[in-house]
Amino acid sequence: MGLGCKLKLDLFITIFSIALLSSPVLSDLIISKVDRRIDLTSHIVRITSTLKVENDGNDPVSDLLVAFPDRQAKHLAFLSAYPHVGKGKTKGRGASLPVQSGQSEGMPESLTSYTVSLPRKLAKGESLTLEVLAVFAQILRPFPEQVSQGDFQLVVFQDSAYYLSPYAVKVQTLTVKLPDARIESYTKLENSKAQGSEIKYGPYENQSPFSYTPIVVHYEYNKPFAVAQKLVREIEISHWGNVQITEHYNLVHGGAVLKGEFSRLDYQMSPHTKGASAFSRLVAKLPPSAHSVYYRDEIGNISTSNLWSNSKNTELEIEPRYPLLGGWKTFFTFGYGLPLKDYLFATQGKRFVNISFGSPINELLVDELVVKVVLPEGSSDISVSAPFPVEQWQETKQSHLDISGRPVLVLQKTNAVPEHNQHFQVYYKFSCLSLLREPLMLISGFFFLFVACIAYSHADFSISKSSASYLAKLQWDEVLTTIQQLGNIINRCLTIHDKLESSLIELSRTGNVQACKTARKAADSLFKELSKELKPLLTTLQSSPQAAQIFPKAEELVAKERELQERLIAKHSIVVDCYEKKLSGREIENRIAPYQQKVTTLRQDVDDLLEYLDEI
Ligand SMILES: *[C@@H]1O[C@H](CO)[C@@H](O)[C@H](O)[C@H]1NC(C)=O
Ligand SMILES: *[C@@H]1O[C@H](CO)[C@@H](O)[C@H](O)[C@H]1NC(C)=O
Repeated sequence: MGLGCKLKLDLFITIFSIALLSSPVLSDLIISKVDRRIDLTSHIVRITSTLKVENDGNDPVSDLLVAFPDRQAKHLAFLSAYPHVGKGKTKGRGASLPVQSGQSEGMPESLTSYTVSLPRKLAKGESLTLEVLAVFAQILRPFPEQVSQGDFQLVVFQDSAYYLSPYAVKVQTLTVKLPDARIESYTKLENSKAQGSEIKYGPYENQSPFSYTPIVVHYEYNKPFAVAQKLVREIEISHWGNVQITEHYNLVHGGAVLKGEFSRLDYQMSPHTKGASAFSRLVAKLPPSAHSVYYRDEIGNISTSNLWSNSKNTELEIEPRYPLLGGWKTFFTFGYGLPLKDYLFATQGKRFVNISFGSPINELLVDELVVKVVLPEGSSDISVSAPFPVEQWQETKQSHLDISGRPVLVLQKTNAVPEHNQHFQVYYKFSCLSLLREPLMLISGFFFLFVACIAYSHADFSISKSSASYLAKLQWDEVLTTIQQLGNIINRCLTIHDKLESSLIELSRTGNVQACKTARKAADSLFKELSKELKPLLTTLQSSPQAAQIFPKAEELVAKERELQERLIAKHSIVVDCYEKKLSGREIENRIAPYQQKVTTLRQDVDDLLEYLDEI
């Protein structure tokens, strides 16, 4: 690094100013030993401090104060403390101890302190070992802040070589673990050395309370700097056996911003030098029982993503369509199903879901994490138990088949780190009847459909016998029958007309006048008979209100037919008369001509009217 750059870096680093108080005796605790490890292998920075705490005073002590400079504390995403339990090989972490934030008396203003409740009261001379884990988000600062595609990404981390504590510290060491041995620079102090990818400070002895010596580490960091600006995880519980998880990510590369052009070709040819800080894949660790896994972005499903499974995990490889460079963003969604029996339990008349809170993606920082637990419709008395503070409210989700919608419990957490990926529980009451609501809706829906079908197929659309419309129908039937009878009689008349005509033809052939007269006589009497039969039919039609439109036509038909009869009879008499007088054929023609013409028109009218009535 050139001198200019070094100068700039020095200006860039602001040294913590800590106003030391002369004698802030907070308690009689002293820290007889502290080993700190700063893990810089990820962009999510973890500092683990193993403290041996001793009571040097006379009064028993039950709390321990942990302090951070304000400008570090504002990046603090997660803090927890555990007692060391067991000895030798069985040594390990106990259950996490309660930690409370809030300024303590006697603390300098530029410090943020937390109170850890010790697992037991420390009496005079007693000691205890515990481990404090502090996880920081976005505490690494890219320097330079912009890089071009061919540059490596360098970041800066600042802390103190001494453990900043309100208590005196007898012996202490610090180890800084880096991603690799490429260290641009680090603050060199007495008793400090770099060894491969580690920098060691100490041991330092007998430091007074609030001792502080700033250190700066400037190093190469080329691992994924994955930050989800927003992640919405939807956990939908279906009592029919499935938990459906859907996760929507707004992801950004949170490292040094790319300056200048990006050449994809260069990147593909040598991704390690032309895009060292870019990342092109992330891995999500899903539960082994995850099924129906999918992964898509705005464009559609990404089928190139890989899925590996073993008995412990299902790993989903998330590979965006393009590599992400500093400042670049992408949006994607993935989802999977889980068996309900592994996540839903019952206790004291309530049910509860026990499922993990955070993102399953490795080393992902989430600026804003929203977890929505969609419960079955009809759930009530909803409450949540989370291992850390979260904001919460309730919503309703409406989907098909829902009547009142599904209750949704929404939890929100800012600065979520993998340490927040703990189990939380959502308790709710649910009556089994509610479970049956949807199927009952379906079943009753189908039931009514079937009943409707049966009713339809058995329905007697021929109208109930007592109703007025039934009577109307009867009357109408009568009208139709009458018209039919009337038509039959007219047709019989027409047959007689034909017989009269053919008797005339016979006459012209044989000259048998007598036979012709007999035929006319028979016809005449038949006409009279039929005319008698017609009378009651016409009366019926006339009296029926439903035949109001038909009656005039029927009457007209009868009248025309009568006229036709008369004309035919008249014509018949004339012809027979002419034969008796032995007039010529021509003379006969002349005499019957006016009748003949009228007969033809009448016959046409009668045929038309018959046809009209026939069509009713
Ligand atoms: C993507 O995959 C999901 C789950 O397999 C499927 O439901 C969805 O229809 C797919 N979408 C497209 C656009 O192929
Ligand atoms: C929730 O599940 C986790 C992991 O299986 C388990 O350790 C924890 O005890 C469960 N919590 C409750 C309240 O059942």
